[in-house]
Amino acid sequence: MTVCILVSPLEASDPTPTDGRLQVVDPGSPQVSVLDLGVTRGDGVFEVLGVVGGHAQAVDAHLSRLQNSAMMLDLPAPDLEAVRAAVLQVVALSEPVPEMLVKIVLTRGVEDAEPAAATCWVIGLPAGDHEEERRRGVSVVLLDRGYPHDISSRAPWLLTGAKTLSYAVNKAALREAARRGADDVVFTSSDGYVLEGPTSTLLARFGTRIWTPAIAQGLLPGTTQAAAFEFFATQGLSTSEVLLRSGQLADADALWLASSVRMLAPVRSVDGWEVPVDQELTAAANAFLLGRVE
Ligand SMILES: Cc1ncc(COP(=O)(O)O)c(C=O)c1O
Repeated sequence: MTVCILVSPLEASDPTPTDGRLQVVDPGSPQVSVLDLGVTRGDGVFEVLGVVGGHAQAVDAHLSRLQNSAMMLDLPAPDLEAVRAAVLQVVALSEPVPEMLVKIVLTRGVEDAEPAAATCWVIGLPAGDHEEERRRGVSVVLLDRGYPHDISSRAPWLLTGAKTLSYAVNKAALREAARRGADDVVFTSSDGYVLEGPTSTLLARFGTRIWTPAIAQGLLPGTTQAAAFEFFATQGLSTSEVLLRSGQLADADALWLASSVRMLAPVRSVDGWEVPVDQELTAAANAFLLGRVE
């Protein structure tokens, strides 16, 4: 059974004790108003975190990114302890399964409501089976995101780098990949830099160096990428954020897409040309990522 918890009131300034803010609701019945700005405008933010063996992963990292996304949208500061309690309660009330995911949604709330109040819910969902992608890898296409790589400083109102509810573009890119016979996407900037996937961070190995495109290019800071960097450091590999030209990908010794829940999916081809897959390193990295209990 799917478990859903409404968190309300959500503002960090509200004195209501955390217990009084969480309400377990039926996810199959209506919970959100048709006037909610998250529904009508995609005006809100979200997070998705993996749960492995009943343990919610990287909760602090996801909460801090939720807070940052909320700040970028000028949403009221959410009570992170109430959200954390909801995440843990969703996991505790869910049927024990090897892997699941928890989604946190935070919207600007009902339009013109007095007083204004954010809407927030936390829901546990099945994780799907990602074994095949973790092992065999994914084919990707490069798609132009249409912005130069310095867009976030030139036009911060575009909210690049925030995990907003407006993921229609990301979904459209994935459909375009499917039309081209590929599994996934790596966005490029209009001036030729490699960015990120619609739901993942790109990692590249060049010899003993592991690189990821710099988040200053308006990218979402990946929690999985951060944890993967910890793993690669234990393997004696150096890690850094860089500006990477799309032409450089052809020289990579390995590429991965990193994301919560799926973890590291090796890239086996880009626009039809083959990329080497390092099965051993990938399996070790995924074992590390799945085994995290921080
Ligand atoms: C645009 C984007 N980049 C990167 C990621 C990977 O982030 P994480 O590893 O924290 O799941 C996501 C996750 O959905 C994403 O949507």
